[in-house]
Amino acid sequence: MKVKSSFILFLVSVVTISQSSFASDKPSELAKLMKQMLVYIQQEKKQIENNQTALPFPTNLQKVSKAKITVGKKLSNEHEKYISDFFQKLNGYYSAKDSTDRVISFNLMVSSCITCHKHECPGPIQVIEKSLFKE
Ligand code: HEC
Repeated sequence: MKVKSSFILFLVSVVTISQSSFASDKPSELAKLMKQMLVYIQQEKKQIENNQTALPFPTNLQKVSKAKITVGKKLSNEHEKYISDFFQKLNGYYSAKDSTDRVISFNLMVSSCITCHKHECPGPIQVIEKSLFKE
């Protein structure tokens, strides 16, 4: 009986240790929010093309500022500035007065994603750029 329970304890600890070493494979809080933001700009571009009203933004400044990032990734010194610039551009988009202004402010907002990405996470830039309206 004693042997059995210590074996179970051993199994439990093996499982716990292996799970924690895989934790880094899971997307971080920020990566999850970013994926939602990417889906948002892709859908929003279609909304503009079809002359439909703007969809709600999937997250907010507080959540993006507080989100945990992937272990080992480095943020720039100006991370907070890039976040606030992005949300400023997003507000600009939501307050667009007409369809021309809407396209221009959308492009400014998407460019603001790219500005931060150039400094912190170049990987998704090409995917993000696809959502820009070409002049
Ligand atoms: C303030 C800087 C900043 C802004 C602004 C920003 N990003 Fe990111 N983004 C990051 C960082 C840092 C990561 C890496 C997150 C991590 O791995 O924890 C990331 C990750 C991503 C990813 C990859 C997620 C994954 O699967 O791992 C995508 C896609 C993405 N961002 C899209 C966007 C889009 C679209 C916008 C604008 C709507 C945007 N980002 C705005 C900094 C930013």
